[in-house]
Amino acid sequence: MQKNIRLRFRLYLMILPLVIAVVLISGVFASLESRTALTRVAIRHLAFKAELLRDYFYSEWDVITQLNLDNQSGYFDAAKESFRTYAYSLLRNKTELIVVFDFQGNLVMRVGFQEVINGNLAGETVNNVTDLPDGWFTVKLFGESRAGTLFTLEPVRWRVAVTELESTYFSDVWNIQITHTVILLITIVVAIIFLSIFISHITRPMERLTETIIRITATNDLTERVKIEFADEIGTLAHQFNIMLSALQSNYREMEETSRAEKQARLLAIEREETTLYLLARVAEFRDAETGNHLKRIASLSTLFSKLLGQSEEEQKLMWYSAPLHDIGKIGIPDSILLKPGMLTEEESGKMKEHTVLGNKLLSRARSKYLIEGAEIALTHHEKWDGSGYPQGLAGEEIPLSGRIVSIVDVFDALTSIRPYKEKWNHERATDFIIEQRGRHFDPRLVDLFLENISAFRECLHSIESESESEF
Ligand SMILES: [Fe+2]
Ligand SMILES: [Fe+2]
Repeated sequence: MQKNIRLRFRLYLMILPLVIAVVLISGVFASLESRTALTRVAIRHLAFKAELLRDYFYSEWDVITQLNLDNQSGYFDAAKESFRTYAYSLLRNKTELIVVFDFQGNLVMRVGFQEVINGNLAGETVNNVTDLPDGWFTVKLFGESRAGTLFTLEPVRWRVAVTELESTYFSDVWNIQITHTVILLITIVVAIIFLSIFISHITRPMERLTETIIRITATNDLTERVKIEFADEIGTLAHQFNIMLSALQSNYREMEETSRAEKQARLLAIEREETTLYLLARVAEFRDAETGNHLKRIASLSTLFSKLLGQSEEEQKLMWYSAPLHDIGKIGIPDSILLKPGMLTEEESGKMKEHTVLGNKLLSRARSKYLIEGAEIALTHHEKWDGSGYPQGLAGEEIPLSGRIVSIVDVFDALTSIRPYKEKWNHERATDFIIEQRGRHFDPRLVDLFLENISAFRECLHSIESESESEF
């Protein structure tokens, strides 16, 4: 918004001085021209009177000299008086003044409407005009700025100045200048009004475009469109911007649809994977002699361990889906061994132990993280902390944590369940066995964790008991 105001301001700055300069320059020229013209008129006017005065004097003086009367003072005085009267008759304005003085600057006569024709002029001087040459002059005379023309009457050694107040002559120039100033002001006001209309025609569509862009950036609302006002460059810009918005909007919609479809596909894939894992676990369960909710208990208790160890939800979920796969390898064990009611021979027992490696082989080639984790658990859930387990005889922390967890959970659950070869142990007896095997069969840290949270484990088992088997 601020940028548009600046643009508007810049346009004013560009155009307004131009308009003012044109009006001002033309005004100054007009004023100078009128002053020159008025001066010319003034000169002609006063020069004409000077001309008449000179002619009048010489025609009088010629008569006097031809009759040889020029030495008689009475005739000279009469000629002087006649000159004064004629000068007076030439006056048309109150401000006109005809001044006669000698070469020393002593005033001979002063003829004006307000002058006393025969006034006493003794002692008055006009020194500041004495040295002026004949012709046009402007000078301060009797305290006033006067313009006039000067000529000399040689026979009587007089200098005559026919003058007029400068202000009278140039009052018209002042009038012209005042009129011009008024015209200038009116022009500026009109220019500003027209400029406002003109500039807003240019800037308003741009402001609208900018506002829309700012609004879209702030709200992400791609349904907005810029209003097109004129079919000019800005109109084209707005039109192209609208086209771009439409394209963006349709792309955005497509992207949203794709993203929604992808999300659905991902959810479907997860659902399928979970279903497959569930089915796999069920397969393992069918081949096993173990009954009831064994797999559900393994999943729940292993996940509880994972949670108590402070593992992430993702890791807990991994445990939930992979722990039930620990005995998947039993599908490769012949029924004669797997379902044999009595004690196994050494050879049969060896065959039975292979379910760990078989399960690992079955799952480890998969790309699913659940199956990979399941492969690790299948291979290591019969290892013992003291290294006396199978199939690799790993000891301590060589055994993966997942295998150590499932090992303790699997044994505890086997002890507390009925099997063809043994009765059901109560929790206390099973717990005592776990304690006894601390550091031998089981990871001491996990045993401690189990004992510290024994009530949570019992609670977990209890809640599974109260649910129906079909729910798993
Ligand atoms: Fe097993
Ligand atoms: Fe098991």
